[in-house]
Amino acid sequence: MPRIENHKFSGIFTIAEKGRTSIATRSLIPNQSVYGEKVVHSDDGDYRPWAPRRSKLGAAIQKGITQMPIQLGSRVLYLGAASGTTVSHCSDIVGPKGVIYAVEFSARTARDLIQLAESRTNIVPIVDDARYPARYAALVGSPMDVVYQDLSQPDQARIFFENIKKFTSFGAWGMIAIKARSIDSTSSVDDIIGQEISLLSDYGLEIIENLDLAPLEKDHHLVLCRVTEGIM
Ligand SMILES: C[S@@+](CC[C@H](N)C(=O)[O-])C[C@H]1O[C@@H](n2cnc3c(N)ncnc32)[C@H](O)[C@@H]1O
Repeated sequence: MPRIENHKFSGIFTIAEKGRTSIATRSLIPNQSVYGEKVVHSDDGDYRPWAPRRSKLGAAIQKGITQMPIQLGSRVLYLGAASGTTVSHCSDIVGPKGVIYAVEFSARTARDLIQLAESRTNIVPIVDDARYPARYAALVGSPMDVVYQDLSQPDQARIFFENIKKFTSFGAWGMIAIKARSIDSTSSVDDIIGQEISLLSDYGLEIIENLDLAPLEKDHHLVLCRVTEGIM
């Protein structure tokens, strides 16, 4: 029998079975596998293992990120939702009173996301380009608690900042998965990440943590930051 325990972050669990431990979320929808993960049934619900090699947020939790701003009831703007792998775990965590506005610009990729949102009413799929936040502002509405971004674009820091500026206020959280090789294919990863972090600081974000996701995700860092009063 798998042993299910609370993780240090609420809404996240660990499942230990046959000498292996994985992180997991309790599924909002009974017996629903979103990306092929094997659902674990228990007396108090169904749990979905969270694959850290399929999700940078999962990798960050597995690697010991110190704070997790996405919690029960959170309002999250998620940029680069793809087919909804990580979005589905965020949907489990925030629960029925939270919401995930999930932005994805590839209509083809977004098909699965839209289907996922049919069963999970706390996901609002937005098929649009994160570079133009004004285009989906009417859908998003009141301020977000967290902006999470995972998209491979050379100007990812600017896109992140534009969305933070439009949809958050003082004290909100930002989480950005930085893919160094989308920004520069020759400089060292440390230099590229350093430059992106100083850009984020210049925009008025307080850097809380900078986590290297290797070996789960090579050349990727997850940067956790907070919106200060000095936001430009
Ligand atoms: C690495 S994948 C995201 C994986 C996803 N976050 C997960 O963990 O399940 C990056 C996604 O960002 C999307 N994307 C890239 N640039 C974008 C933009 N400017 N606006 C919206 N989506 C974008 C891509 O189409 C792709 O699906």
